[in-house]
Amino acid sequence: MTLTSKKTKENQNVNIGKVVFWEKSLYGISGKTETASFSIKVYDHSVIRIQVSRDESFSPNPYSVIAIPKRVELEIIENNKEIIIETSKIHLKIRLNPFCLTFLTVDGQVINQDDPSFSVSWLGTEVSNYKKIQEDEKFIGLGEKTGNLNRAGRAYTNWNTDYFAYGVNDDPLYMSIPFFIGLHNQLSYGIFFDNTHKTVFNFGASNNRFIYYSADDGDLDYYFFHDENVGQIITAYTELTGKMDMPPLWSLGFQQCRYSYYPDSEVITLASTFRDKKIPADVIYLDIHHMEKYKVFTFDEEKFPDPKAMIERLREKGFKVVVIMDPGIKTDKGYLPYDEGKEKELFVTYPDGEIYEGQVWPGWCAFPDFTKAEVRNWWGEKMSFYKDAGVHGYWTDMNEPASWGQFTPNLINFHYEGEEVSHRKARNVYGFQMARSAMEGSLMQNPEERPFVLTRSGYSGIQRYAAAWTGDNVSSEEHMLAGIRLINSLGLSGISFAGYDVGGFAGEASKSLFARWMSIAVFAPLLRAHSMINSNDAEPWAFGEEVEEISRNYIKLRYRLLPTIYASFYKSTETGLPLARSLAVDYSHDNKIFETLFQNQYIFCDSFLIAPVESSKEIMKVYLPEGDWYYLFDSKLHHGNQVIYQDCPINYLPVFIKASSLIAMQSDVSHTGEQHDGVLRLHLYVGKNKTSYLHYEDDGHSMNYKNGQLLKREILWDGENNRLEFLPIEGSFKSKFSSIKLYVHGKKIKSIKVDGKERSIHKENIAFLEKLTDFDPLPDNTLPYLESKDVPYTVFDHFRNHFIIEMD
Ligand code: NOJ
Repeated sequence: MTLTSKKTKENQNVNIGKVVFWEKSLYGISGKTETASFSIKVYDHSVIRIQVSRDESFSPNPYSVIAIPKRVELEIIENNKEIIIETSKIHLKIRLNPFCLTFLTVDGQVINQDDPSFSVSWLGTEVSNYKKIQEDEKFIGLGEKTGNLNRAGRAYTNWNTDYFAYGVNDDPLYMSIPFFIGLHNQLSYGIFFDNTHKTVFNFGASNNRFIYYSADDGDLDYYFFHDENVGQIITAYTELTGKMDMPPLWSLGFQQCRYSYYPDSEVITLASTFRDKKIPADVIYLDIHHMEKYKVFTFDEEKFPDPKAMIERLREKGFKVVVIMDPGIKTDKGYLPYDEGKEKELFVTYPDGEIYEGQVWPGWCAFPDFTKAEVRNWWGEKMSFYKDAGVHGYWTDMNEPASWGQFTPNLINFHYEGEEVSHRKARNVYGFQMARSAMEGSLMQNPEERPFVLTRSGYSGIQRYAAAWTGDNVSSEEHMLAGIRLINSLGLSGISFAGYDVGGFAGEASKSLFARWMSIAVFAPLLRAHSMINSNDAEPWAFGEEVEEISRNYIKLRYRLLPTIYASFYKSTETGLPLARSLAVDYSHDNKIFETLFQNQYIFCDSFLIAPVESSKEIMKVYLPEGDWYYLFDSKLHHGNQVIYQDCPINYLPVFIKASSLIAMQSDVSHTGEQHDGVLRLHLYVGKNKTSYLHYEDDGHSMNYKNGQLLKREILWDGENNRLEFLPIEGSFKSKFSSIKLYVHGKKIKSIKVDGKERSIHKENIAFLEKLTDFDPLPDNTLPYLESKDVPYTVFDHFRNHFIIEMD
């Protein structure tokens, strides 16, 4: 049979038509319709890949998906109207005339179905998949996208864009993650459309008939996920596109950035000020002014005459240095990276072979073709320049790629792992591959150390190489809240390690805005403050004493919480689940969480419910989902499934802790490299459920954890029997903690027994706890350690193997 040429009908919709031939294949079926070829492959019980192409073969997608199909048991049933592929989780019905897919649960409920008339169609080279909108269907995810948590009624474009001071509803931004999750009728499913051309996702904008996603060109190539809940769908998506590795511990501390700190003396003063003011911090960034004429792999000799000595002095103070790397290479003869790149043909070119030049900070630049392994390798070798100076981390910026004019001509050529494609197919993965090159380069230079790369641009799978930040945000209340939704949405899309510029990059934060933003940001996976050139100082002490005090308190709280945060990162490396989790993950079918007032709320590290609020508000409405919740600052218990009014003066961010949670804390440190006092403070928030907490430790900087040099211990809480069980320690890493202090919130304890033997507890604290019924305002600007007198505790040895604690 002959396939209809792409060119026969350019101007009107061409549908895929009826199936004319099909056969079983290794993982499913493949066949042809009147206009296209198709393949349906089962990757796992909960994951099915659909490919449709008008070319003779399917186009390769070399970047995002790293998993191969598993051999799972399938049933393929056929009658003269349809084929049905059955896994243990999904039944996929393929109507033959015309080709149209319906995904069903095993008991026959429709999860998702193609529009019966349009299903897969083309308009010229543009391919689309139209899906019926289900009753009250909601859509979440799609990565770095503005707007509401529920994306219904809006359309989005994926086309990586350098967007200075974007508006809170603008689109597209820097990164493309063509993966979303649909919710309806207690069901959830995910769709990852793996096509790197410009894509559009229309969630029912300007029509009431369908949702669709389309790509400018290329195949329809998507993965369909269905499981019992949203968390499992995120896990399946990250099984496919990869999970992050453990980040270095230092990257979880406070990071200070500025466009730009210079000269070297200013950088040293900055570091000393953090220490003098006793504000914990770990990282200082060098933005573009560290370079000579903005040329990557150089230091400005006047501003930074001896970078190695400066970085060493910072290291002595407990600081790590992250440098910016922009992709544009200044086209200066005599500048080695340019000369080499030209000679070795490493740059992106026009179709006639001339090097493409665009203007960025250094002036006219050539752009390394990061879609070619040789180029990524070359860049990695060049990074020895920074390694020799003692740099610890890399910040890949402007990698959309950005250039003045913001309109790269589409005809330029990219290698794309040998496929040789135009900018149309390569743009959305350029930043992704630059981040990859930086990460691989960091490992090449320092094989023993975990890389830290922060990227602005990316595509699905970027979590394997880099953390992400949300680019040039603005100092405004609405941007602060929009940023939280961006991070939560990135988390729904496989990217756990993400943050925003605290205080806002463009514009000037007011005192209260900065204070509030900081208090929220300590509950973001990545905690980094940054601000624009020619703006006022924006360090935590630049806004007066009160803001300094609030910032110090919250940053200290972040550091005390590091054992919990670190363990959550470890869990994310295993499950792909984000640290900052939109309520849509755990309470997916609770309509209340989508309301404008509550859609910014999220769960941090499994246990904290964060209710972000504008700095101007003194009281706010918080929605507590089902379950019981303790207010962080006084352990007052609230029942869930209700809206409460919560005081939120500028020094108190509304934070609640889920009942039946365990929170692990450590003593104050000024940076992550400093040894704490060896006491692990475990806070139990009593609840009726059975839960488990994973305590995790490793050396915090090497890859040895991958060879078992780690420590894991599961702690089980049984709320029915008031019993904590510490399972045996696993792994060969020696804990940095020698004892555990267990604090019990929410229960009037009479006695505690460890393995049947009575333990002493602080009786006066019990009495204090009984008094704690009303909100007891704390003195201004103080934050309790969570271990203040109001909570009874007991102490025991961390090295005990398996033991049980019972409470009366
Ligand atoms: C754009 C980035 O988004 C910003 O964070 C950085 O400071 C400037 N480029 C200058 O490098």
